[in-house]
Amino acid sequence: MKYYLDTANISDIQKILNVFPIEGVTTNPSILANESTSLKQLKEIQKIIGTEKDLFVQVIAKTSEEMINQAHQLLNEIGNQIVIKIPVSQEGLKTIKHFQHSNIQTLATAIFSSQQGMWAAKAGADYLAPYVNRIDNMSSDGVGVAQELLRIIDNYQFETKVLAASFKNVNQIQKLSLSGCHGVTVSPNLLEASFTHEGTRKSLDEFENDWVNKFQTLNF
Ligand code: G3P
Repeated sequence: MKYYLDTANISDIQKILNVFPIEGVTTNPSILANESTSLKQLKEIQKIIGTEKDLFVQVIAKTSEEMINQAHQLLNEIGNQIVIKIPVSQEGLKTIKHFQHSNIQTLATAIFSSQQGMWAAKAGADYLAPYVNRIDNMSSDGVGVAQELLRIIDNYQFETKVLAASFKNVNQIQKLSLSGCHGVTVSPNLLEASFTHEGTRKSLDEFENDWVNKFQTLNF
């Protein structure tokens, strides 16, 4: 399963990149607004992660015509390898369809139902992003929607990939990794939480104590 970092915070990206083999960075308008910056920050992120990793950037416009213009602006300014995130409104679907036979990659975002994902796949989206925790918060089943998308892709042999988003706990990620989900995008804190374990820390403390008590050093 591919892991992406859902943030635009430069120091968090650098810190995670140093340790974890992630596949790229995803952003959205709220994430960028949180950093009080936009294009400059996106260019910086692209520079840090390099073109071998993926950067996902979302359009803000509401009409298809403006979405297409913004997509081209982003591709020109940041680089034509970025993936354009397009919300699954009707105008968004039209935009995804517009890019279907081009070499511009799209991710259909803010998916709350598997039928929305089905339409986005038919329109040619390269990625589908179900909002797992936001679906859970609507008394529905976010992991279930992502699993349904995986089945739809399999049933109809779509080439699109599920890049699930909006996670609030490791269990949601774990369930999707057991379901063969193609990718997940998670916040830096949650990504670290998916790896950190109290049992490991306790075991390492015990090894260190036993060694230092005997040899008064941490060397061989
Ligand atoms: O990439 C979409 C994601 O950022 C939404 O997550 O945590 O705001 O529900 P969240």
